[in-house]
Amino acid sequence: MRVLAIVGSPRIKGNTSYLVDQALEAIEEAGIETERIMLSQYEINPCLGHDVCASYESCIQNDDAGRILDKFRTADGVILATPVYYYNVSAQMKAFIDRNYWLYKHDQKYQARTVGIIVVAEQIGIEDTVHTLRQFTEEFDIGDKGMFIATGYANEIGDAVKNLSLVKDARQLGMQMAKLLKGHIAK
Ligand SMILES: Cc1cc2nc3c(=O)[nH]c(=O)nc-3n(C[C@H](O)[C@H](O)[C@H](O)COP(=O)(O)O)c2cc1C
Repeated sequence: MRVLAIVGSPRIKGNTSYLVDQALEAIEEAGIETERIMLSQYEINPCLGHDVCASYESCIQNDDAGRILDKFRTADGVILATPVYYYNVSAQMKAFIDRNYWLYKHDQKYQARTVGIIVVAEQIGIEDTVHTLRQFTEEFDIGDKGMFIATGYANEIGDAVKNLSLVKDARQLGMQMAKLLKGHIAK
């Protein structure tokens, strides 16, 4: 069993990645394998929107998106985490979301049974950002029961560490995802 976290912040030691690590730690403590992908460390170009990709065997863009999408599609649980950039997801996250069009066009279904959403902002835009990510993950068809959300405020690197209720929420998100996945095993 595997949970994959996709992180849209370019700050490797920033607030979003710190909170993701908290969630992943809780998931690992439950005996579930995890992986964190910082999108900024990969080449993920924007979708070209030529709309004929359904007829191609592989995306014509020779970047890292294909390999990441494979992992994303087959993970048992996924976390999408982003800072708010101008009232919505970061550009890295938006490019990743758009490249999922390939899966959509090839009718490739997501296998995750649980989704976590983590959003951090200095002060404004959390609601719209969560809305974007929720809309995107509707394709997972998991319903509200499998969806866990942790949001809060932090700005400078290190702020999230001091925001104890946010840290608690991120760990809680991890624990809830793990519990749901473990429950599936028991059945
Ligand atoms: C380009 C850019 C745009 C931002 N836009 C917003 C915004 O619209 N609303 C907000 O509250 N914070 C905004 N912020 C602040 C970040 O959301 C905040 O610093 C967050 O903690 C960064 O997360 P990170 O440490 O994981 O990178 C912006 C920051 C940057 C660099």
